[in-house]
Amino acid sequence: MILSARALLALVPLLHLSNAAPAAIASNVTTTVRSYNNPILPGWHSDPSCVFVAEGPYNNTAFCTTSTFMAFPGNPLYDSRDLTTWKLLPEIRTATNQQFAGMFANTLRHHGGAFYLISAWINTAVELPRFVLFTTTDPYDDAAWSDGRFVETPTRTIDPDIFFDDDGSVVMASSGNPIIARHLDVTTGKTSEAWALWNGTGSGSTEGPHLYRKDGWYYLLVAEGGTQLGHSATWKPCPSNPFVSNSGADSYFQTVGHADLFQDGAGYWWGIALSTRGGPELYNDLIFPMGRETVLYPVSWPEGEWPIAEQVLGEPDTVDFAPGTSIPHNWIYWRTPFDPNTFSISDEDHPNTLRITASRANLTADAAFNASLSISDEDHPNTLRITASRANLTADAAFNASLEGLGAVFRRQEHSYFNFSVNLHVPPNGAERAEADELGVSNFLNQDQHVGIGVVYLPPQGSNGTSKRAATGLEPYFRVRADSVRYAPVPEPVIAPVPSAWLQDGDAVVRLRISPRNESHYEVFASQGGGDDDGEPMPLAIYTTALLSGDGAGTGGLLGAYATTNGGNQTFDAYFGRRRYEPVGQIIDYGVIVPANGTAPAE
Ligand SMILES: *[C@@H]1O[C@H](CO)[C@@H](O)[C@H](O)[C@H]1NC(C)=O
Ligand SMILES: *[C@@H]1O[C@H](CO)[C@@H](O)[C@H](O)[C@H]1NC(C)=O
Ligand SMILES: *[C@@H]1O[C@H](CO)[C@@H](O)[C@H](O)[C@H]1NC(C)=O
Ligand SMILES: *[C@@H]1O[C@H](CO)[C@@H](O)[C@H](O)[C@H]1NC(C)=O
Ligand SMILES: *[C@@H]1O[C@H](CO)[C@@H](O)[C@H](O)[C@H]1NC(C)=O
Ligand SMILES: *[C@@H]1O[C@H](CO)[C@@H](O)[C@H](O)[C@H]1NC(C)=O
Ligand SMILES: *[C@@H]1O[C@H](CO)[C@@H](O)[C@H](O)[C@H]1NC(C)=O
Ligand SMILES: *[C@@H]1O[C@H](CO)[C@@H](O)[C@H](O)[C@H]1NC(C)=O
Ligand SMILES: *[C@@H]1O[C@H](CO)[C@@H](O)[C@H](O)[C@H]1NC(C)=O
Ligand SMILES: *[C@@H]1O[C@H](CO)[C@@H](O)[C@H](O)[C@H]1NC(C)=O
Ligand SMILES: *[C@@H]1O[C@H](CO)[C@@H](O)[C@H](O)[C@H]1NC(C)=O
Ligand SMILES: *[C@@H]1O[C@H](CO)[C@@H](O)[C@H](O)[C@H]1NC(C)=O
Repeated sequence: MILSARALLALVPLLHLSNAAPAAIASNVTTTVRSYNNPILPGWHSDPSCVFVAEGPYNNTAFCTTSTFMAFPGNPLYDSRDLTTWKLLPEIRTATNQQFAGMFANTLRHHGGAFYLISAWINTAVELPRFVLFTTTDPYDDAAWSDGRFVETPTRTIDPDIFFDDDGSVVMASSGNPIIARHLDVTTGKTSEAWALWNGTGSGSTEGPHLYRKDGWYYLLVAEGGTQLGHSATWKPCPSNPFVSNSGADSYFQTVGHADLFQDGAGYWWGIALSTRGGPELYNDLIFPMGRETVLYPVSWPEGEWPIAEQVLGEPDTVDFAPGTSIPHNWIYWRTPFDPNTFSISDEDHPNTLRITASRANLTADAAFNASLSISDEDHPNTLRITASRANLTADAAFNASLEGLGAVFRRQEHSYFNFSVNLHVPPNGAERAEADELGVSNFLNQDQHVGIGVVYLPPQGSNGTSKRAATGLEPYFRVRADSVRYAPVPEPVIAPVPSAWLQDGDAVVRLRISPRNESHYEVFASQGGGDDDGEPMPLAIYTTALLSGDGAGTGGLLGAYATTNGGNQTFDAYFGRRRYEPVGQIIDYGVIVPANGTAPAE
């Protein structure tokens, strides 16, 4: 297969590109030594940048980072000693109030014993993108990373690159038409005047630049054509551009582009890029629930052999919330948690559970949730509006911060087929609950596009309601509700009573499960008890993943658990247990499903 986004290669100011038609991006790659399947970082891993460190204490290790936008912790780092098994390292923070903002498109480099990660921080409601530089000599230690240093940032540009030249100077290239460059002082963050590098080959949206120096030449690789089906990577001004692209091809891997290169310890060159699985037809039908993933391809530059690597299988979750454990490091929040106390494991009287203190905001939230900042309101041009919070900077005991965050915690969907299931502790009657209190699991892209599968406390709904159990008259109902700004019509919510036979127990436990039925539709089930020998699962709904796809750019599907009062000012503590994410299979080509556990790479 060919990668679907294009990459462009450019030489600056000298240009020379090796041989070669677009690098072939294969779903499964077999070399004389081993084989691997793409994507190597499955699930939402867009805009990859990697570096191979040959020397020093982290010798012979490849490190990669990807974009996280709104998610917290942001800017994940992965390492691999063999390009086979990638491990998630401690992550870096990000915070902003949009759905598509935050930390964009990093470049990761290693120079003089230190790692440099440069990123663009974007909060379009408040200010233009600003570049942020993080450094460390120990990428494994979260605390060893420097605080982010803002770097002087040209106006309206993103995707910063950081290039260490042989003469000690540092060049920061970034997106635009043309791609521009500035000299950067990494100790002060100050930059020189910008100069123009390249306009690209003409397909527009020139971004994601990376500079390399080899054999006396400077090379400029850029992304072009937008991050959708026309995506590519190209070199300036290589006669055989694009370097990688699946634009116009029928390949299963689409949108290939935003590439980077590194040379491994054996001298082999490798390329990485982002890509979206499913082929052009499903892409156009908005069926790409995992968003943009990271693929690997061997690169000949110019006379190297084909290098080799193997696949990443994706991580399972088997989490029982045992006392003394913490939230797994592959889990992410939508924005930095407002109050870390919103989440805890094995509270004294609730062993083996995750507590989520319900947020006022539900997964969709409302205008009040994100209305605290705006720029140039109609009658107040050239101003920043801050709507006053009740709490001052000191706040007080009554300030319950969890009410203004999102009570939800997620992980990436990394497989085409998976089982995601969680136990919900459901008090059988509404005595401890207010109307609209809800806990559940979610298939989530962002606050504008998600499916919530919850148990919500409501007054009896028609003749299906079970008998009133409490003074409040509230009873638990399953509710499956979708929101989508991109796909219509959004199905009506499904509401069904939790069977009264399931609620006899003082601490009734209900298990919810999301399982893909096929490539385009997911099915959700409820069952009683929460154990392995659950009763017969009750199908709740089937929905198209088009509801969850297509924010047009950056993110990818998440699976998680949430608790909310749906706007109510009260709160409650929701308890979850036995959370499982079971990889089942990867679709790597039309009709080719690799069982998730059957593909351990043969040596
Ligand atoms: C490798 O890919 C080819 C074509 O894309 C496919 O026919 C074959 O079944 C794949 N092999 C494996 C082991 O997945
Ligand atoms: C690579 O790092 C390991 C662990 O620090 C060290 O034992 C080894 O000597 C290093 N090898 C080289 C070639 O530097
Ligand atoms: C980019 O295109 C503009 C408009 O055609 C042209 O003026 C400019 O010289 C070009 N810049 C580069 C670096 O090629
Ligand atoms: C939140 O703010 C964003 C950006 O200003 C806006 O697009 C969105 O509609 C708002 N959401 C709600 C629920 O008001
Ligand atoms: C901050 O607000 C609290 C009430 O929420 C009040 O008791 C306290 O005095 C305020 N602090 C200052 C410095 O005004
Ligand atoms: C917020 O309120 C909930 C429910 O009353 C409580 O469990 C939680 O501890 C409170 N959080 C803080 C920070 O006070
Ligand atoms: C009540 O049950 C009927 C028949 O089983 C079903 O058609 C209807 O959708 C149910 N209503 C609710 C609110 O669950
Ligand atoms: C997937 O399942 C849904 C729901 O059953 C069905 O409507 C759709 O046609 C199926 N798609 C394929 C490709 O089988
Ligand atoms: C989500 O919360 C808002 C208020 O914040 C409310 O208007 C909306 O109805 C809620 N959604 C559901 C499904 O309850
Ligand atoms: C929650 O409190 C706010 C501010 O006091 C109020 O405007 C809002 O109506 C309350 N919400 C509900 C559901 O009572
Ligand atoms: C996924 O869940 C279904 C239903 O419980 C089960 O039949 C299937 O074996 C599960 N698959 C895996 C890999 O656990
Ligand atoms: C892998 O699949 C086999 C056969 O389907 C199954 O017996 C085994 O339990 C699975 N292993 C894991 C770790 O899921």
